[in-house]
Amino acid sequence: MAPLKADADPVTPVAGTAVAIIPAPAHLQVRAGEAATLGPRTIIKTHPLDDEARRVGSQFAEFLRTATGYRIPVGVASEGDDHESLESGGAKGAIVELSTRGGDALGEEGYTLNVKKNRILIKAHTAEGLFRGVTTLRQLLPRQIESAKRAEGPWTIPAVRISDAPRYEYRGAMLDVARRFFEVADVKRFIDYMAMYKLNALHMHLTDDQGWRLTVDGRPALTQVGASTQSGWKPGTGGPWYYTKAQYREIVEYAAARFVDVIPEIDGPGHATAAKASLPEVNCGGQAPPPYFGFDVGLPPVCLSPEARPAVKAYLTDVLREAAQQSSADIVHIGGDEVPSTTTEQMDWYVRTAGEVVTAQHKRVMGWHQIGAGTLPPGSLLQWWGDRGDQASIGTGQETGAVRDLRAGVAQGARVIASPADRAYLDMKYDSTNPYGLSWAGLVNLRRAYEWDPVSATSSTDGTHRIVSEEQVAGVEAPLWTDRAYRGSNSLPTSLNQFVPPSVYTDFMTYPRLPAIAEVGWSSAEARSYDEFQRRVVTHGQRWDVQGIGYYRAPDVPWAAVS
Ligand code: ACM
Repeated sequence: MAPLKADADPVTPVAGTAVAIIPAPAHLQVRAGEAATLGPRTIIKTHPLDDEARRVGSQFAEFLRTATGYRIPVGVASEGDDHESLESGGAKGAIVELSTRGGDALGEEGYTLNVKKNRILIKAHTAEGLFRGVTTLRQLLPRQIESAKRAEGPWTIPAVRISDAPRYEYRGAMLDVARRFFEVADVKRFIDYMAMYKLNALHMHLTDDQGWRLTVDGRPALTQVGASTQSGWKPGTGGPWYYTKAQYREIVEYAAARFVDVIPEIDGPGHATAAKASLPEVNCGGQAPPPYFGFDVGLPPVCLSPEARPAVKAYLTDVLREAAQQSSADIVHIGGDEVPSTTTEQMDWYVRTAGEVVTAQHKRVMGWHQIGAGTLPPGSLLQWWGDRGDQASIGTGQETGAVRDLRAGVAQGARVIASPADRAYLDMKYDSTNPYGLSWAGLVNLRRAYEWDPVSATSSTDGTHRIVSEEQVAGVEAPLWTDRAYRGSNSLPTSLNQFVPPSVYTDFMTYPRLPAIAEVGWSSAEARSYDEFQRRVVTHGQRWDVQGIGYYRAPDVPWAAVS
C-alpha cells in the first residue's frame, strides 16, 4: 500500500465532525462539501444474492438504531423506493450500499469506502473486509453515535474516498483470564474494543499457575480444583472461575460475528501449577501441590521425566484437543515461557508432543518465543516478548537466550508475532503514578506503544542486525496480563478490596495504548507519525467519553475537555 497522500490530512474538520480514523487507512482523501447525512429514510442496500453483505448490514443497522432511533431497512431497494429525492441531497437520509463483490485484489480484509452526494458505498471482497469498512464508517460518524441511548444528530459523514487494507494478517490482543478471571460480559466488552480498532485475533491465556479456566471433557478436576484460585484469591474466596462449554462458545460466537478469531493458550510445561494441583500424575512423585494463588513466576513445570511422560502426553492430548475444538482460530497456543530447570531435551519433548496433538487437530502451533528451542511443526508462529535488553545483545557474541530461541525458531521456518514487552505489553505502567501494572520492562507511555514495528523490535538497537524480514512477520499482539490488576501494584495486595473489577483495570491499561498497537499492525510504516496519531487519539478520547470507557488520561496527551 502506498503512503497517505500529502493532501490527506487524517484529522480534517468537516461540518462539525472530524475525520480521525484509527488505524490510519492506506489511502484517504477528504473532499470539500458533499457530505452525507443519515436520516429517518436511510436504507442499507445490498445485492439480492449477497447474503454476507446483508448480514454485515443488519448488524450495522442494529448498531445505528441505538443512538439514531432509526429503523434502517436492509436489503434490496424496490422500485419507487429508490430515494431519488435523497440522491439529490435531500434531508431524509443517505443510502448506504454494501457489497462483497469488490474483486479479489482487495484481499481478505481490504475495502473501499466512498461518500458522495448522500450515497455511501463500501465494497470488499469478503464479509470480513466489508466489516472493516463499516467499522471505518462508524468512526466517520459523530461521536454521539457511540451513545448507549438515543442521541442528537445530525448524523453527518464527511465526503471521503478511502481505499484500505492491513499491513499484517495477524493483529491480536491477549487476555490473561487465568490470573484474574473475566466473566463472559467482560470478554465481550474487550472484543468490542478489538473490533473497533480492526484487530482480528483474541488470544485467551486460559491457564497458568493461578488458575485453569477451560472445561475439559473427562478431566473435571481441572475446573473443580484448578479453577478455585486467582492471583491473590485463595480457594473459598469465590469462584470457581471457569467457562462452561456454553459460555466459551458464547465468547467464540460473539468474536466471530466481529471477525475476531479466538486462539486458546494452554501454557506449559511451566506456568502449570493449576493443572498440577488438579492432576497428581503430571507431578514428579505423583503428589499434587496445593492450588496456588500467589504472585511468583518460575514455579516448577509439569514432570518431564521418562516415567511421567505417558501421563503428561495423555494430559496434553485431552486439553489441547479440547482447546482446539472449542476455539475458532486455526491456531493453538502451547505457551512455553519461563520454564525453570528444564533440559534442552525435555523442552524439545514437550514442544514436539504438544505440536503433534495440535497438528492432529489440523491446527497450527503458536507459542512464546521459547518454543523456538524445540522442534516445531510447519506453519508455527513464535510470539516474541523480548525487550530492549534482548535487542541490545543482538549481533554481539553474548546474545540472550530469548534471541537464541527466536533465531532457532525462525531457522525452522516459523513466522513471528511481535509482542515486545517494552512496547506491546498492556500490563506495563504508562508512568510511575499508575495504580495498576508492572514495570519490569520499563514504563510504556503512548509514544513507546506507538513508535516501533515488528522488524525493528527484533533487530539490534542500531538496526544493523536483523533476525526477521518483513515477510517473516505474521503480525503483532498486545497482551494484557492481569497479575497486578489491583490498586497499589507497587507491592503485593494485603486485602481483596484492592482488586478492581476487570473492566476497570482493562479500560485503564488498554486505552489509549491498544489503538496504538492496532495501528502498528494495520497501517503502513510510511503512513504513521506519532504526532498525527496523537491528534486522532484526542478525537477518539471524546468517543470513549460517550461510551463510558475509563481510559487513562495520560499526561503526555493533550486531551480535550470532557463535554
Ligand atoms: C510472558 O510474559 N511470560 C510471556
